Amino acid sequence: MADLRVGRRRDGAVWTDGAAPPVSWRTATPATGWTQASAHLLVTRGDGAVQEHVVDGPDAVLVPWPFPPLQPRERVRLEVTTTGSDGVRATPAAVEAEAPLLTAADWSADWVALPDAADDRPGQLRRGFVLPAEPVRARLHVTALGAYEVELNGTVVGDEVLAPGWTSYRDRVLVATHDVTAQLHAGENVVGAWLAGAWFTERYGFFGRATRAYAGPAALLAQLEVDLADGSRVTVGTDGTWTGRTAGPLLTSGIYAGEEFDATRHAPSWSRTTTGPGWSPVRVLADPGAARVPATAEPVRRTQEVAAVAVLTTRAGATVVDFGQNLVGRVRIRVQGPAGHTVTLRHAEVLEDGELATRQLRYAYSVDRYTLAGGEPEEWEPRFTFHGFRYLQVDDWPGEFDPAAVTAVVCHSDMARTGTFTCSEPLLERLHENVVWSMRGNFLSIPTDCPQRDERLGWTGDLQVFAGTAAVLHDCDAFLTSWLADLAAEQEHSGGVVPIIVPTAMESDREGVVAAWGDAATVVPWTLYERFGDTGLLARQYASMRAWVDVELAQADGDGLWSRGYQLGDWLDPRAPAHSPREGRTHPSLVASAYLFRSLDLVARSAAVLGHRDDAARYAALAERTRTAFLATYVTPAGRMVSEGPTTYAMALVFGLATDPDLRARLGRRLAEIVREDGYRIGTGFVGTPLVMDALCATGHLHTASRLLLQTEAPSWLYPVTVGATTVWERWDALLPDGSVNGHEMTSFNHYALGAVVDWLHRGLAGLSAAEPGFARLRVAPAVLPGLTSAGSRQVTPYGPAEAGWERTADRVRVTALVPPGATAEVELPDGTRHEVGSGAHAWEVDLTDELPATELRGLDTDLADLVDDPDALALVRAEVAAFDPGRALAFAGALRYEAGSTLRTALMFADPDGLHRVHAALTDLHDTRTTEETP
Ligand code: BGC
Repeated sequence: MADLRVGRRRDGAVWTDGAAPPVSWRTATPATGWTQASAHLLVTRGDGAVQEHVVDGPDAVLVPWPFPPLQPRERVRLEVTTTGSDGVRATPAAVEAEAPLLTAADWSADWVALPDAADDRPGQLRRGFVLPAEPVRARLHVTALGAYEVELNGTVVGDEVLAPGWTSYRDRVLVATHDVTAQLHAGENVVGAWLAGAWFTERYGFFGRATRAYAGPAALLAQLEVDLADGSRVTVGTDGTWTGRTAGPLLTSGIYAGEEFDATRHAPSWSRTTTGPGWSPVRVLADPGAARVPATAEPVRRTQEVAAVAVLTTRAGATVVDFGQNLVGRVRIRVQGPAGHTVTLRHAEVLEDGELATRQLRYAYSVDRYTLAGGEPEEWEPRFTFHGFRYLQVDDWPGEFDPAAVTAVVCHSDMARTGTFTCSEPLLERLHENVVWSMRGNFLSIPTDCPQRDERLGWTGDLQVFAGTAAVLHDCDAFLTSWLADLAAEQEHSGGVVPIIVPTAMESDREGVVAAWGDAATVVPWTLYERFGDTGLLARQYASMRAWVDVELAQADGDGLWSRGYQLGDWLDPRAPAHSPREGRTHPSLVASAYLFRSLDLVARSAAVLGHRDDAARYAALAERTRTAFLATYVTPAGRMVSEGPTTYAMALVFGLATDPDLRARLGRRLAEIVREDGYRIGTGFVGTPLVMDALCATGHLHTASRLLLQTEAPSWLYPVTVGATTVWERWDALLPDGSVNGHEMTSFNHYALGAVVDWLHRGLAGLSAAEPGFARLRVAPAVLPGLTSAGSRQVTPYGPAEAGWERTADRVRVTALVPPGATAEVELPDGTRHEVGSGAHAWEVDLTDELPATELRGLDTDLADLVDDPDALALVRAEVAAFDPGRALAFAGALRYEAGSTLRTALMFADPDGLHRVHAALTDLHDTRTTEETP
């Protein structure tokens, strides 16, 4: 047995997410074809009672709690023993779990705020107390409106960063529980806390019109419960007996602004004593009313440290450290110098004209300042802020600057990494790595658009398109389960409308009913159900999913299409004007109608899973009505669509709008043609990017898919990689091909949405996906793309590690798969043969000769279509043309549009004859060289 879990978290926390946490287990066995016949669950309750339950059959993932509910504070021991279909019993596995405080009645503490402060002024709070005997068990339950860090007798409690994280604070705050037995002792003790406003007091809004989202001061709620050897319990909760101060060392703190700390005001012993000037009673607040919810997801932690790779001196003379990786977190410094001296740290993702590029941060100042206490070397890292950066400008360093004095500390929600990818193309591997970095940086308490500028907001559309990729890379079930509770809570304030940002931060967030953004309400729970087998979550979110489609239906036209209201469309289609990213090639009403279908379809399927039969039939019929209207309105009988962009076709093919095989074939052909006409440059925005590879491969256009995927010229997935990107960019051209930074203010270098192709790299290219929820059944069906010689995916599924991959050997392909115990797999090989297998390692070999088709080079008479298919020839032509007609060369630099049968000669008509001659000669040479190489 391996990996017995209570709840959804994967960080080993013992605290349950409620009174009835789901239970999951895995059986690690080398036996092939292993399935679980039964599982025996034995729980020893807090009072010593023993209860048993038997699961008959294969269920092992997120099994609903089969025992009477846990009591608050109850600690149980759970033991699970599985028996295989072969009758063999596995070694039992055991785990301890403890319920935190579960209801309002469990609390006696009050919410408290710092004394007499401006609402967003950070500070410290503390209280002394006496324990009459040694503690045998002590728990701290703590949360805040804002962010806190607790110290007990001078030692920090736990390893969380920016706790309790951002939630829909009007509705819910997350309570963390800590075992603090070892930090207390008989006699005098002191509990202290740092407190800052963080997300709670941040000012949100664009163009300098920022306002607070929540009213009131930052506040702390803590309850320390200490059980003593004599059986008595001492409870120390936040109340009017605590004191606080804002005149301490933490001068200012803001998520966007950064932090200022004056160590001359800092006595490290402050949380070991209760005396000292400047402390006055805290303010006791009325209960703000937010539900106190046990933290159900992994908290934000420091997960990695990155050292400087270079130090530059800019033209202006500034010292800039390069960490070699665009990352999210903050910088820890080790510094020695005179008391009162201030060091300033400025952060940026890129350099512009050799200087720190801060223009793109807009109103996010992103500066930390540390004033030295003087004397011995001092270490400091800001507490309640984070930055998105690769470069750090260090101003006013005392003495000689040593890069070893600065360390980038990477922070994000501490989810388990589950998916890794390998492939014969290093650029693709780096793209994958960049997406991992962008996910880490943007899964910081909530899923955000970006981590650096004055947003860092829970844009629903960004996550909606990325959800599949997120679920491949990390176990984000717990993380997104928590965020979806915020989404549902926010929705209730707006009559079912899903705000475009969750948690909402600005009044206008709720105004629009926006397709592809609001559809996060249906797509995300469904994705978690598919990937993690989380039926419980699907059940919990069902009301939210249905409320959202009902809102969509109310917006829709009478015939089931949706063409009304402001839409964001296929956001950031590379053909859209830089200042208006919604105006791409796909008409926004097609996006809206396609998503209406998608959400209706998902609600119908969810209803079927959950046994809501009437809903299942009703929403399936509504989905069918929209599908029929979509085809009748937007698709011609010949298989063309009215908006001729790749996203349009991809939606029709992937969402299941086009189901007739003949129509699908025609749409696929036209999609492949469009991609080729675009010169194999990417032509999709947020909406189409996760779909286009699926659409091409599902209709058999593997050559086209390969060229699109492997394209390195802008715009493409790999272009950023070739110019050194280490994260995914918001815009396809955040860095322009001439090396300059895109001039538009909305230019982030860390936005995961356009990295959503990674889901396909695993499911499609490597060929590993879930055929049944939670990977109870795998599908192994790789798309063996010409131009690549191998690809592989490894995913830690709920049943255990699974793998799929392939490798070419001359004219054969070897496909391999690893199926975890308890799961089965359906396999479809590149030659079309199908197999069924059980757990264990498997391999197959099939014949496959699949080269990219050869192009025909005929000098100036080369067909333009051939030129598009031949990157080397195209580069040659471009270079030659640039020499005699730079203006015209541009035509060959962007997407090369061609008409069937047109040749290079016609494309270059009226050009300088000498130039034409050189183009002709260059292509003829290339042709000759290739022919000689082929015939030795
Ligand atoms: C955000 C996005 C978001 C978009 C929608 C941008 O400012 O960064 O990623 O989805 O706005 O309008």
